Amino acid sequence: MNVVLTGSGRGIGLELARQLHAAGHTVIAGCRNPGDELLALGVTVVQGVEVTSDEGIGRLLEASPDRVDLLLNNAGVLQRNTLAELDLDSIRLQFEVNALAPVRVTRAFLGRLERGSKVAIVTSRMGSIADNTSGGHYGYRMSKAAANMGGKSLANDLGPRGVAVVMLHPGFVKTAMTGFNGNWGPAEAAAGLLARIEELTPSTSGGFWHAEGPQLPW
Ligand SMILES: NC(=O)c1ccc[n+]([C@@H]2O[C@H](COP(=O)([O-])OP(=O)(O)OC[C@H]3O[C@@H](n4cnc5c(N)ncnc54)[C@H](OP(=O)(O)O)[C@@H]3O)[C@@H](O)[C@H]2O)c1
Repeated sequence: MNVVLTGSGRGIGLELARQLHAAGHTVIAGCRNPGDELLALGVTVVQGVEVTSDEGIGRLLEASPDRVDLLLNNAGVLQRNTLAELDLDSIRLQFEVNALAPVRVTRAFLGRLERGSKVAIVTSRMGSIADNTSGGHYGYRMSKAAANMGGKSLANDLGPRGVAVVMLHPGFVKTAMTGFNGNWGPAEAAAGLLARIEELTPSTSGGFWHAEGPQLPW
């Protein structure tokens, strides 16, 4: 299968690239700046893929095959915003990366998605309104909730073309985003995400799932 991925330079994205490549898939790994680990994998690395710019997204499109079986929107950013220190530029940035980019990237790739293709968006349980019992994190929570809504609309819009869309929470993962705290590492998280993507069918399109398996409430 041909897979296109964003945010593959480190963390969960790097592991997704590694595991997809090891499974024999063709991986087009978009990143802003590749680290040595990504360069050593043997996948097609596309640098300068800034997901908030048409130029960056265009670079990824240019390097991608005519048919994309899986478009994996993984790039994301977390900045801590409290009510006392409401940095609006920080919140806007998180909306650009977490919420708008997956829709922008998917729209750019529409011509490459065919019947049977899948789109995955790595969102977060922190975007679940039902799960929000602790507040704060305005930019991250709001942008991930918006990402879920964007993904649901994509699922509805792309359903008639036979393209399935899934929103995924990777768990609490030990990456730079969490200061390397978490319940599991990027390798386990990536394996869980890929298992959920494998299970995705047109009839389950538009859902929100934990990488460990259970469906999550909006
Ligand atoms: N770690 C967790 O516990 C956790 C929990 C829930 C959801 N998630 C989600 O999982 C995904 C991967 O996160 P991670 O934990 O692997 O974090 P990470 O190590 O911080 O990696 C984030 C990735 O996103 C890329 N990125 C950020 N802003 C970008 C932009 N404007 N354009 C292009 N790429 C950009 C980064 O690229 P650079 O290297 O160039 O900065 C990096 O490759 C994110 O969507 C995150 O929100 C993570």
